[in-house]
Amino acid sequence: MILPELISNEEQLDEVLGTPSPQLTEMMRRLDGDIMILGIGGKMGASLGAVAINAIKAAGVSKKVIGVARFSDPDTRKKLNQLGIETISCDLLDRQAVAELPRIKNIIFMVGRKFGTDGNEELTWAINTLVPHIVAEHFTASRIVVFSTGNVYPLVPVTSGGCSETDSTNPLGEYAQSCLGRERIFGHFSKLYGTPLCLYRLNYAIDLRYGVLYDIGRKIWEEKPVDLSVSHFNAIWQGDACNQALLCLEYCTSPANVFNITGPESIPVRYAADIMAQIMGKKVTYSGNDGSYALLANSAKSAKHFGYPTVSLQQMLTWTAHWLMLGGRGLNKPTHFDTNNGRF
Ligand SMILES: NC(=O)c1ccc[n+]([C@@H]2O[C@H](COP(=O)([O-])OP(=O)(O)OC[C@H]3O[C@@H](n4cnc5c(N)ncnc54)[C@H](OP(=O)(O)O)[C@@H]3O)[C@@H](O)[C@H]2O)c1
Repeated sequence: MILPELISNEEQLDEVLGTPSPQLTEMMRRLDGDIMILGIGGKMGASLGAVAINAIKAAGVSKKVIGVARFSDPDTRKKLNQLGIETISCDLLDRQAVAELPRIKNIIFMVGRKFGTDGNEELTWAINTLVPHIVAEHFTASRIVVFSTGNVYPLVPVTSGGCSETDSTNPLGEYAQSCLGRERIFGHFSKLYGTPLCLYRLNYAIDLRYGVLYDIGRKIWEEKPVDLSVSHFNAIWQGDACNQALLCLEYCTSPANVFNITGPESIPVRYAADIMAQIMGKKVTYSGNDGSYALLANSAKSAKHFGYPTVSLQQMLTWTAHWLMLGGRGLNKPTHFDTNNGRF
């Protein structure tokens, strides 16, 4: 796809986010079985569903995409159905309900809970570890790509280039600990039943309606100071992240294969803010001191297997700055990427 200079409305945004790569289209020709996306109701679900459907169409094969969530927001379900995604409403904490789900060959697991953990830690542990237990016991004969997070790594020096998949995990705070719990539970059942698994450790997807660039850009646009305590971050265009999630299906192994999914840069907050401020014609102000530790992952392994992301950092900065200038809709879901005490 030739990328547009600017993105001016949500229809265009969803089209760009839902574009499959030639590599994914090729994979769909080889992949056996249908695809089920568990936890499709969130910020990334519709993009992932659209990429899957469009890759299947482009490949000229016949394959169902089924999305499962509670559908707390009924509009999401309507939108998914319009795309051609079948939907099943299910609370994945409910063992009986999960037992009735069809056993589909390819599972993308996106369920998670982050915000609101501080003060309600029990629910976060239940969603992030009990749901994996129930799901892993039901889909023993499937291949499963499990969405995880770079938060399972410790904070590292901003000059380090980020943690690699072979580095030790050391999660900070209960949210991150429960995410490692999710990985361990799936990993246990993968070893027990031989279920092929990929652990997909994502660091910050970029949509124009939410994401780290949206959070920084919005501060600049509203002339509020940009905090520097977490001075570097990783980011990847959500469309690229979704393509890579589906490509992971062919890399599932037992024991699990692990991938860091993000862009190639450790991005300085100052750099991102200065570029967006320039585009917006605003003067950026900063608060706090440049932190020397941050949550950073190294994406060399995913780049080797899936190629570099198709949308560059420069392009994401330009699109985000213009989106904010146009008054584009936001989801009102801040990433809290500037949290450095592990409490969400
Ligand atoms: N977006 C990012 O930049 C990012 C970065 C790192 C990691 N991740 C991880 O990647 C995954 C997908 O990201 P996301 O941003 O789309 O997450 P999200 O917005 O939190 O969406 C997850 C969805 O899972 C569904 N869900 C939660 N509990 C459920 C239950 N008991 N039964 C059925 N469905 C349930 C919810 O939809 P309903 O309310 O409709 O059920 C929820 O919207 C998450 O696990 C997230 O932690 C995302």
